[in-house]
Amino acid sequence: MPIGFFDSGVGGLSVLREAIKLLPNEHFIYFGDSKNAPYGVKKVEEVRELTHKAVEFLIDKGAKAIVIACNTATSAAISTLRETYTSMPVIGIEPALKPAVKLHRDGAVVIMATPVTLQEKKFINLMEKYKDESEIVSMPCPGLVEFIEKGNIDGEEVRQYLEEKFKIYKNIEIGSIVLGCTHYPFVKNLIKDILGYDVPIIDGGFGTSKELKRKLEELKVLSGSEEKGDVKIYNSLEGDNIIKISNKLLYS
Ligand code: DGL
Repeated sequence: MPIGFFDSGVGGLSVLREAIKLLPNEHFIYFGDSKNAPYGVKKVEEVRELTHKAVEFLIDKGAKAIVIACNTATSAAISTLRETYTSMPVIGIEPALKPAVKLHRDGAVVIMATPVTLQEKKFINLMEKYKDESEIVSMPCPGLVEFIEKGNIDGEEVRQYLEEKFKIYKNIEIGSIVLGCTHYPFVKNLIKDILGYDVPIIDGGFGTSKELKRKLEELKVLSGSEEKGDVKIYNSLEGDNIIKISNKLLYS
């Protein structure tokens, strides 16, 4: 039985690529809702409804576990999903604030994420937990997901977008950056290049994949196969183009 991955679009592939490394013998199915992306500027109720629909799709395809590989969808829907699907693991993702704070570097921890993630209770509680240990600065990035959805991860427009963003934050000493949206790891190299100095840039893909493995082990539902598993990608957008972009991002 496959493990089902979901994101508002192509972003969750940054989590899936970590999971494939960690669990190479598992089968994976991925559903990206690119037709309705971006989620990060929608009403929370709408994000919740779309997320529940997507999870139903993955369960209909036989998923034995679900990974909500989207920070926005996790903050909007993880509680109601866990209430609905009590007999299967539902793993979510949240901005990797803890590992960033624990680095104890000088300067602020800058969290790049969607407006919905940053304004939801889940993140506010997380921030509350660590606010005395580090200066935490939110950087909402509406509009960034749209570039990545088109496969544009290093073009002039996305570079300009990020240059503008970091210009606004130029008076802040940055100690580390948290990529609190699963689309953003695809522009990590560009962010490094724009910053021009070395700071740790942390995302939650590996941590979430480790949590997935731990859960499957605990429930004794890991694949026993010694062969490499399959990866099947579905998307709500019609046509081949989005699948081509997805494959390029996943295997780049
Ligand atoms: N990839 C999603 C996340 O991790 C959000 C993208 C969107 O706005 O649709 O937050």
